[in-house]
Amino acid sequence: MVGNWKMHGRIKENAALLTEVAAWASALQNDVHVGVCVPCPYLAQSQALLSESVVRWGIQDVSAHTHGAYTGEVAAEMAADFGVTYVIVGHSERRAYHRESPELVAEKARRALDARLTPIVCVGETLEQRELGSPERVIAEQLDAVLDAMTAEQVASIVIAYEPVWAIGTGKSATAEQAQDVHAFVRSKLAKTGAAADVVPVLYGGSVKPENAQELFAQQDIDGGLIGGASLKSKDFLAICQAAQTVLQ
Ligand code: PGA
Repeated sequence: MVGNWKMHGRIKENAALLTEVAAWASALQNDVHVGVCVPCPYLAQSQALLSESVVRWGIQDVSAHTHGAYTGEVAAEMAADFGVTYVIVGHSERRAYHRESPELVAEKARRALDARLTPIVCVGETLEQRELGSPERVIAEQLDAVLDAMTAEQVASIVIAYEPVWAIGTGKSATAEQAQDVHAFVRSKLAKTGAAADVVPVLYGGSVKPENAQELFAQQDIDGGLIGGASLKSKDFLAICQAAQTVLQ
């Protein structure tokens, strides 16, 4: 269960939120892993407040380069200096607002792996793409670029997040059935890489809230969630993690 803070947070509020999450996460069972992907300026704060806890922290994007004249970018190795575990790559907001191509997203995922970080590769279709036909074609294009650029061993070390663009921040989640269909498709693509498809967690993201979490996570191929807005409220994030605890095996 990974929180994606996006561009939210201030140092004072973060302290309260991180401390609360660290406190309740230790009481979760059923092997529920909790992480938060914070804005880069708050990495040191996250490391300070979470390193004694079971909660892992991460970033929301990474450079496709290792170092050099790339003003404003953050290298995976730099994040690793702050004890980071997760790196979100290919979030639809990056694909849309920063024109990130599937190939660039694949590069970023590889950079994360090179730095021994876990990329959370986001894929998802827009409403227009869904209405034009099946979302699978779009998902396949996004996924193939990443999977083709990796060995089976590397594929076994990534996390995938299916996030339908029309469900992100809209309050309108995919139905459990719609999400399960795409997750099963993602799983079949993973199986074709030769990596053990069931070792790669496939998360769902897009308006997950306490009210719909249990139904989503009860689906066979949904292994967890990438939680935006609701991860900024400790109570909601906790309720979502508890829903996962109830249904995830
Ligand atoms: P949301 O965002 O939960 O606020 O819809 C999810 C995401 O963009 O990762």
